[in-house]
Amino acid sequence: MKEGRDMKGRTSTSSRKLDHLRICAEGGVEAGSPGFSDVRLVHAALPECSLPAIETEVRFLGHRLASPLFIAAMTGGHPEALPVNRHLAAAAERAGIGMGVGSQRAALEDPDLEDSFTVVREAAPTAFLCANLGVVQLKEHGIEWAERAVEMIDADALCIHANFLQEAVMPEGDHDARGCLGALATLCRDFPVPVILKETGAGISREVAARLWAAGVSAIDLGGLGGTSWAKVEGIRSPGSPAAAMGERFADWGIPTVVSLREVAGTGPVIATGGVRSGLDMARALALGADLCGMALPLLAPAMESEDAVIRAIDGYNRELAIAMFLSGARTVKSMRNVRTWITGTTRQMIRKKQEIPYGG
Ligand SMILES: Cc1cc2nc3c(=O)[nH]c(=O)nc-3n(C[C@H](O)[C@H](O)[C@H](O)COP(=O)(O)O)c2cc1C
Repeated sequence: MKEGRDMKGRTSTSSRKLDHLRICAEGGVEAGSPGFSDVRLVHAALPECSLPAIETEVRFLGHRLASPLFIAAMTGGHPEALPVNRHLAAAAERAGIGMGVGSQRAALEDPDLEDSFTVVREAAPTAFLCANLGVVQLKEHGIEWAERAVEMIDADALCIHANFLQEAVMPEGDHDARGCLGALATLCRDFPVPVILKETGAGISREVAARLWAAGVSAIDLGGLGGTSWAKVEGIRSPGSPAAAMGERFADWGIPTVVSLREVAGTGPVIATGGVRSGLDMARALALGADLCGMALPLLAPAMESEDAVIRAIDGYNRELAIAMFLSGARTVKSMRNVRTWITGTTRQMIRKKQEIPYGG
């Protein structure tokens, strides 16, 4: 997208980031179904473990995390995003969980906006933090921007986001996706921190996952359909515009999170994001093979309020996860993988269809 500046001298990237925050905070931005309501965990009548002794700790890319809950990339790049990021980061530090920042493009274009990102490492000196850059910006600016993004927050990993659904519905979006896989492979070759490819709400198929592993990514955040819809957000941002009509048309385009998880699980480290709305959803995702469970939208309102509000939300989700693990007879996250599931409805149909198609077909 072409860069300009608004009347306050801020880049259009920066003002767009603020629009996204405000629109998402108002609600009505979700579309489709992630498929979690189609997944049932088999109940263990005699769990043979104690609820207070349930262990939610996990290891991810060499880091120990207190819970598989991951705060998915949301914001930064505007002064109003600074307190939001501070609350999220301080809560991530206290809870011992990982967090991703929003796209750092605005601050890479305008270093005056770096504060809204650097605050994250200040508030979370030891947390597992992920930097964030769009795959199109990676293609245009190469390893230099990737390195600057990581340095800005002393990140432990770098998320490269793919958002071609969002770009395609905007007439002024980035419509040229050629060369992204090559740019990713070049980056992965000898980048100092692990690279995670992240979708933003339309999911990853097993064919795309195979190409990503071959390119050298260390993990995939499958960002499936059923949570925040970027087609919808862009539509709301420009009412009556061509983007609004396209946004509505393509609001539920994509691979639902549970279906995408079934496509990708077991091939490498996976974060399941997109419509994860409870600790029970987290347990379902873990049983289906996720390593971490990302949440963005549910943590936005608490993050706009305070660090304590984010902690309350995280504690609530972790408590639900522990109860689901207990009732499944799984004392550890690792043993959640062995819990049997029943999959019903449309999700079952989509998964069945996949099984009929030979790999690569
Ligand atoms: C307000 C907001 C801003 C976001 N900004 C970014 C971003 O800058 N970069 C990115 O990779 N993902 C971004 N996302 C996408 C999320 O990381 C996540 O993939 C998506 O929202 C699906 O999760 P959810 O259904 O829990 O919201 C944003 C999400 C929200 C709600």
